[in-house]
Amino acid sequence: MNKLAGLAILTLLGGASALSAQDTEAGKASFATCAACHGANAEGNKALNAPALAGQEAWYLERQLSNFKAGVRGTGSDAFGAQMAPMAAMLATDADIKNVAAFIAALSPASITHDGGGDAAAGQALYGTCAACHGVQAEGNAALNAPTLVLQQDWYIVRQLENFKSGARGAHADDAFGAQMRPMAMMLADAAAMKNVAAYIASLGN
Ligand code: HEC
Ligand code: HEC
Repeated sequence: MNKLAGLAILTLLGGASALSAQDTEAGKASFATCAACHGANAEGNKALNAPALAGQEAWYLERQLSNFKAGVRGTGSDAFGAQMAPMAAMLATDADIKNVAAFIAALSPASITHDGGGDAAAGQALYGTCAACHGVQAEGNAALNAPTLVLQQDWYIVRQLENFKSGARGAHADDAFGAQMRPMAMMLADAAAMKNVAAYIASLGN
């Protein structure tokens, strides 16, 4: 390949990536609404039941926002998800969803507050199964569609495990990824087991 052709290809590639880049400035503007509940740094706010989001991967954020918007998550007995669903509905287009997700994903993981309690050592034994998808450090695994857990508060993790187990989340016909998670939550015998595994995940963040 001659030098000029190489340069032309590079220019083309550069142009393509510029076109597909998300608009984090637009995402930042959308996030002003989100901050009211999720916090200015997306660190979460337990009093408002809103989880930490900072540093979560964009593909997972996009999927959840689309699910809330489409009524795949946040309906029926999911009372807290029902508070989030109208917020996702305010993101009018797929581009709006991508932009706000890109903005949140680029935030540094926030310093989050855990409830504490739970037996992290007992939770470690239970986490062995979870690690297969969510990773040994609970860092998430995009190839397996499993989100990062280490960025999240223990109370939010427990609530989601309860929701998956009861079917408040993951039971919708169009929720293929939630359906993969449901049997995992069902393996956790009771609320104490959920609290223990959440305590272990919280300990990974220290
Ligand atoms: C009125 C308060 C409120 C506002 C405003 C709000 N949220 Fe939420 N959000 C929540 C609550 C409560 C939950 C937890 C739902 C649950 O427990 O399942 C949530 C959950 C989420 C989740 C799921 C996180 C996960 O780990 O699965 C995402 C993503 C999210 N919100 C993004 C946003 C974005 C983006 C905006 C702004 C466009 C926003 N939220 C505005 C209350 C809010
Ligand atoms: C077979 C793979 C797999 C295994 C094993 C697994 N998960 Fe998941 N998990 C998923 C997927 C996929 C999702 C995303 C669901 C969605 O998109 O709504 C998920 C979502 C979650 C969520 C929701 C996170 C959020 O931000 O709302 C929690 C909490 C969770 N898993 C905890 C666990 C725990 C604890 C275990 C072990 C007991 C476990 N998972 C085992 C695949 C798995």
